[in-house]
Amino acid sequence: MSKISRISRGFELVWLGHSVFEVHASTGLTILIDPWLTGNPQAAREKEKVDRIDLILVTHGHGDHLGDTLEIAGRTKAHVICMPEISQYLAGKGLENVVGMNKGGTYRFKEIDITMVHAIHSSSITEDDEIIYTGEAVGYVVKLENGFSIYHAGDTGVFKDMEIIGDLYQPDLALVPIGGHYVMGPREAAYACEMLHPKYVVPMHYGTFPVLTGTPAAFKDEMAHLPSVEVIILNPGDSLT
Ligand code: NI
Ligand code: MN
Repeated sequence: MSKISRISRGFELVWLGHSVFEVHASTGLTILIDPWLTGNPQAAREKEKVDRIDLILVTHGHGDHLGDTLEIAGRTKAHVICMPEISQYLAGKGLENVVGMNKGGTYRFKEIDITMVHAIHSSSITEDDEIIYTGEAVGYVVKLENGFSIYHAGDTGVFKDMEIIGDLYQPDLALVPIGGHYVMGPREAAYACEMLHPKYVVPMHYGTFPVLTGTPAAFKDEMAHLPSVEVIILNPGDSLT
C-alpha cells in the first residue's frame, strides 16, 4: 500500500476501488462509503477483512454501491446512513442501527458531521428479478472533527447546484466519478470541480466495467486550466494521509 502524504490533516483515506472509500478519522472513528467489495474487480480488500467500521454511508441502491452493506453492517454493528427507503429495506432484512435521512440534513456522529446532498442519478435494488424503489441517489459531505471536509459525489451527472455544495460546505477534498456512461465523464467532472472548488480531487468510478471509459489521464487534461485544484490519482488500495 503506497502512502501519499500530501494531505496532512490527521486522517487517512483509503480507496478500495470503484466508489468504495474508507476514512479513518484521528479520533479513531472509521467510515466506509459505498462498500461494494464482493464482485468488484478493483476490490482492494475482501469483505471478510473489513472490521471495526463505525459508520457506513450508502449513496444509492444500485448493487455497485449498496454492495456488501447488509453483511458488513450486520457483522460489525456499524451504523448505516442512507435514504429512508433504503433504511426500510435494510431494517426489513433485520439490520439494526440504520439511520434514514434525506437531502439537506446533517447527522452528527461522535464529532463528525455527515450531510446528505443532492445527486443526479437513479436508485433501485434488484432482488429476485423485481425492482425495488429506493428513493433518490445522493452524495455526502463528511466534515471531520478537525474541520477537514470530504465530498463523495456518489453516482451523478454534473449539476449546477454543486455550487451550493461548494459554497455551503467548502469541501477540501472531492471524490468524483469520471467513468462516463452511467456517471460524469472527465469533462463533466472537471466542470464540477469549477463549482466545488476543492483543494484536492480524487477521481473514482472508472475502469471497473468496459463501459466506464473515462481515464485519469483524460481527467488531468480537463483539469489543466484549474491549477488551484490538485488532482490526486490513486490505485485501489492506496491511501492518503
Ligand atoms: Ni448507480
Ligand atoms: Mn455506480
